[in-house]
Amino acid sequence: MKISKKVAGVEYAIRDIVVAARQVERQGKKITYLNIGDPIQYGFQPPQNVKEAMIKSIREGHNYYAQSEGLPELREAIAIKEKAKGLSVSTDDILITNGVSEALDMVMSSIVEEGDEVLLPGPYYPPYASYVRLHGGKPVEFAVDLKNSTPDIDDIKSKITPKTVAICLISPNNPTGAVFSEKSLKQLVGIANEHDLYIICDEIYDQIVFDEKFTGIGKVSGNSPVILLNGFSKVHLMSGWRIGYIAFNNSPKLAPIRENLPKLARVRISTNLPVQYAALESLRGPQGYVSEFVSELKERRDFVVKRLNSIPGLSCSNPKGAFYAFPKIEKNPYKTDQEFVMELLRKTGVLTVHGSGFGTQYGSGHFRIVFLPDLNTLDFALNEIEKFCQ
Ligand SMILES: Cc1ncc(COP(=O)(O)O)c(C=O)c1O
Repeated sequence: MKISKKVAGVEYAIRDIVVAARQVERQGKKITYLNIGDPIQYGFQPPQNVKEAMIKSIREGHNYYAQSEGLPELREAIAIKEKAKGLSVSTDDILITNGVSEALDMVMSSIVEEGDEVLLPGPYYPPYASYVRLHGGKPVEFAVDLKNSTPDIDDIKSKITPKTVAICLISPNNPTGAVFSEKSLKQLVGIANEHDLYIICDEIYDQIVFDEKFTGIGKVSGNSPVILLNGFSKVHLMSGWRIGYIAFNNSPKLAPIRENLPKLARVRISTNLPVQYAALESLRGPQGYVSEFVSELKERRDFVVKRLNSIPGLSCSNPKGAFYAFPKIEKNPYKTDQEFVMELLRKTGVLTVHGSGFGTQYGSGHFRIVFLPDLNTLDFALNEIEKFCQ
């Protein structure tokens, strides 16, 4: 039966690799999962008041279709949060989605046509390329210097063509942990304006930074056309509940997408209503759980990066945010990073993700480790990686 070429091009290395891990597991090997960026699968939980808010909303009967754009109180709370980060938004500029994943699908559906090009930070979170391809577009990676979290401005300029429609920024980045500085963001906004490009900025890890203060795109973008993507899966520990949002800033250039994209929200009816009540509580309730989570992560980041850099044959730049390390395989005896990761899995049971799954141009020759597990698990995994590299 017919299958479209577009869907055949969809890949998601982070989950695709689990198929291989299950095979190894069936042969009796215990798997140490370091592949998935889900805090809940490593022992973290949403706070009790947030869980209670969802249960309460169910008990009170909020079990119907929500408004397509989302619960007005939640949209208002999100607008307050994003405004505090510097973005010029109000309640009407927020649209609630089933995670950033759905938001990304809606945005790419709205702007990408056959042959259009979208600039992505190299390496990038895989769905960015998948959704661009799904709509017939071409992902184009630009270089980022991981040592100092700086996008290569000249490289970006050289890659802009008449077909380029948008530049995507992911800060803090998955898989590298790079966090763009205010200066870099200003330069990126300048380039986007010069070439009339949408600025699509993913800030899902906005509060998970370890070394320097986070700067949101809103702080520097003025009324340039910014589409901000954010959600509750990471900072707010609600990954399985599937909730995120799109925020449009006040650029007049966004008028056509603001008119058309909400139709996509209407055809999918709405997002889960009790989850929206929980998200509201997570923004309005006590925020202490976020700093506790981030300080746990910082300890794990420091441990993992130090250990990785002590292993001959590996080198790792310091992730400034999110919860991933992205070591470089300096001397790879295997043909590809994918083979390295597969052999590591077969010999040790440690499951990581090959760097090329995050873009072949800049991701190849690396692998990604999630540093969400506790220190004992990380210590065990790093001992195994060390023995394997030796
Ligand atoms: C940069 C980035 N954006 C979006 C997502 C997915 O977000 P959501 O769970 O809101 O769909 C992830 C998940 O790993 C991510 O790393």
